Amino acid sequence: MGKGDRAVSAPFPRHIGIIMDGNGRWAKKFLLKREAGHRAGAQTLRKLVEGMNEAGFEVLTVYAFSTENWTRDDGEVAYLMGLISEYIQQYIDEADKGNGRVRVIGDRSRLSVDLQQRIAMLEQMTADKNGILLNIAINYGGRDDIVRAVRAVAADVAAGKLALGEISERHINEYIDTAPLPDPELIIRTSGEMRLSNFLLWQAAYSEFYATPILWPDFKISHLYEAIEHYNKRQRRFGGRKGS
Ligand code: FPP
Repeated sequence: MGKGDRAVSAPFPRHIGIIMDGNGRWAKKFLLKREAGHRAGAQTLRKLVEGMNEAGFEVLTVYAFSTENWTRDDGEVAYLMGLISEYIQQYIDEADKGNGRVRVIGDRSRLSVDLQQRIAMLEQMTADKNGILLNIAINYGGRDDIVRAVRAVAADVAAGKLALGEISERHINEYIDTAPLPDPELIIRTSGEMRLSNFLLWQAAYSEFYATPILWPDFKISHLYEAIEHYNKRQRRFGGRKGS
């Protein structure tokens, strides 16, 4: 499918967020280890991004590792970090061929130096591309994002660049991790849960939320189009709020 040949009608969300949930349950279903679920989930993400890029989508933000995920057992944390590292390296190896951009959001200071370097390299290699922008949230928490933005605004106040009374949403928007992107119009969560789980809290103020029972490793671009159909119906029903 190419640009202008989309499976759904406009309005088309420019920025979509996905909470990729259900890797563990998927693995259990096939009597596999949780790690196998995460590996299948990484593969699902690769295919989805490829399909979305071909279809002309602009921005996808995915929740790969939350600030709370460090509390999982050491083996699983290490596996997830290794998988993310491998995933980033694959994109580095293919960066010359593709037109996709990758950025990482979250507090990367807690990641290994090696992973931080790979991320910086990939961001730099893809910065000037014109395809889909994939934002990967790693060691990301919505509250932490807001705290870091508030700190940055406070630093401007302390430096005399900004008066306390002048602080507005615009200043938080400037420093929030996804800046300068528009907020996600649609946030999808797989595996049936109905929570945001600390994902893009500030940016989700007006996002439509869509939950599907599909477990993340089974998620296909056709499921994304189903979500967008729902989004479009809701937009039509509540038309007038957006852009008014
Ligand atoms: C939730 O499933 C998923 C995660 C905690 C990690 C998401 C990671 C991936 C999809 C793969 C790695 C990502 C990249 C960018 C390579 P869960 O383990 O909580 O599932 P469960 O609720 O069924 O146990």
